[in-house]
Amino acid sequence: MSNNNEVYRTIIKRRSIRRFKQKPILLDLLKKFVNAARLAPSAANLQPLEFCIVNDKDLCLKVFEALSWAGYIKPKWSPMENERPVAYIIILVKDSKNLWYLRDVSFAASNIVLCAEGEGLASCILCKIDKEKIRKSLKIPEQIIIDSVIALGYKAEQSIVEDIVDSVKYYKDEKEVLHVPKRKLEDIIHINKY
Ligand SMILES: Cc1cc2nc3c(=O)[nH]c(=O)nc-3n(C[C@H](O)[C@H](O)[C@H](O)COP(=O)(O)O)c2cc1C
Repeated sequence: MSNNNEVYRTIIKRRSIRRFKQKPILLDLLKKFVNAARLAPSAANLQPLEFCIVNDKDLCLKVFEALSWAGYIKPKWSPMENERPVAYIIILVKDSKNLWYLRDVSFAASNIVLCAEGEGLASCILCKIDKEKIRKSLKIPEQIIIDSVIALGYKAEQSIVEDIVDSVKYYKDEKEVLHVPKRKLEDIIHINKY
């Protein structure tokens, strides 16, 4: 499959990364990611989402304490102090009356992680989060839905995709490289008929 399309290359390259260098991310870059999310497709163009950038050290720690990492890795694992994310973007929903708002969240998250990848950064989307802890720490009003967290930083681990054999569970090898099984193209594609 030809690889001369920059967007495609970025999509192929992106993996969920959970260990990061302790190098800060420029605020302008974080704003750029939110701008990419702002311009994502939105059902009926209702644009119900808002975004909270967190890059303050103390607040990053508070957000970190509300996260659950890599559920398939046993024993229970989370990034060490010197490899934690250096910033977060929290996806907020201002109005959930629209039936399709969760799809808006997914497109926005996708734009953020791909834009981050394009800037040489790494990310991980997290939905298994303690929303009330995050609400309290970031003073997010009750009427705003906290949907998910995107952890960001410069990559300090390797993750590679491989063809699925018998399990969807990602795992780490003896060199701490993460292996992510994905279904094969020929197993998911249907042309003209199922
Ligand atoms: C909706 C959603 C929720 C996720 N929640 C978490 C999470 O709470 N914690 C975590 O470590 N990873 C989480 N992930 C990351 C997935 O584990 C990851 O996308 C999956 O293993 C495939 O790996 P890849 O992103 O490198 O392709 C989430 C991903 C998605 C799309």
